[in-house]
Amino acid sequence: MSAASAVVRGLGGALPRKVVTNEHLSAVMDTSDEWIRRRTGIAERRHSDETESTSVLATMAGRRALASAGVDSAGLLIVATSTPDKVCPATAPKVAANLGLKGIAAFDVSAVCSGFVYALTTATWAIRSGSVDSALVIGADTFTRLLDPTDRTTSVIFGDGAGAAYLSAGTAEEPGAIKASTLHSDGEGETLIQVPEGPGSFFEMQGKEVFTQAVAAMSDSVETVLASAGWAAGDVDSLIAHQANLRILNTVASVTGIPASKAEVHLDRVGNTSAASIPLAMTDAGTKGHRSPGDKVVLTAFGGGTTWGAVAMTWPSISVVDPH
Ligand code: UT7
Repeated sequence: MSAASAVVRGLGGALPRKVVTNEHLSAVMDTSDEWIRRRTGIAERRHSDETESTSVLATMAGRRALASAGVDSAGLLIVATSTPDKVCPATAPKVAANLGLKGIAAFDVSAVCSGFVYALTTATWAIRSGSVDSALVIGADTFTRLLDPTDRTTSVIFGDGAGAAYLSAGTAEEPGAIKASTLHSDGEGETLIQVPEGPGSFFEMQGKEVFTQAVAAMSDSVETVLASAGWAAGDVDSLIAHQANLRILNTVASVTGIPASKAEVHLDRVGNTSAASIPLAMTDAGTKGHRSPGDKVVLTAFGGGTTWGAVAMTWPSISVVDPH
């Protein structure tokens, strides 16, 4: 029998230990704390070491999301990542085994910064179809491994981390219910955000063009899920957009008519953590006590592919551990 709704019942995050401030970066490349704060809103980010692989961070975030929900298993595990431990096999089976969930369906989703929105929507489809009754969705990335450490256009923005949500079947009226979602892609934008082919290639991004497309795509998808959920922009209590740039968050708020004060800001302390960015920002909002069960929340992301999408949901009734 198909379930009426998928309901988020747990959240968790994990961050590497090493904090890299704007001052640290200014000492090794031609940039400044003033430029980075003014152009991006970022003050510091985390860099993983060799013991903090994507699967290690994903496992830690997943364990915290299960604990936050008060459960110890899930019927499905999806890891959204573009920095898997290995090109082959996927990271999710290893994370499932680390969590004592050997045997369950486990796979990776590769949609760069939109990965969490893609994975959350896929898990919602699986629960609503009745195929599984619960799912653990993890966004985890260690992009700093792919960066040219001397490239100021990417190194100032990206950081590493993981965030996770546990969902199970329930009703649309329960706090944490996923109300609507929309996913999109345009492969003609393949080269805007990429690691080009060839040995020794580093991650590259055409920042200005990505900025413009990200604002348009995220604003459109927010409007789509607001219409599907039957919510007006003024009803939204929290806009949790992919944490790439403070100027992008404020512009999406202004285009969609959601007050900028409703945009959750976490990038100041972690930078752009790619697929981990939205669940980490959700975890941060939970630990700050910003949200009440049933609040109207909109998630949205844009990333490589290009890919983008949005989810409308209500805030769950949960307690969350601070990953900082
Ligand atoms: O996660 C997937 C989605 N990603 C995004 O959404 C990222 C979107 N893009 C952005 O956030 C912004 O485009 C960046 C933060 C990447 C760049 O900001 P910008 O305001 O678009 O700067 P810009 O690339 O136009 O560069 C402006 C100036 C240039 O100097 P000139 O040509 O005006 O003399 C750059 O060389 O700033 C210079 N610049 C820097 N200066 C100091 C570029 N990077 C830096 C830097 N420090 N780190």
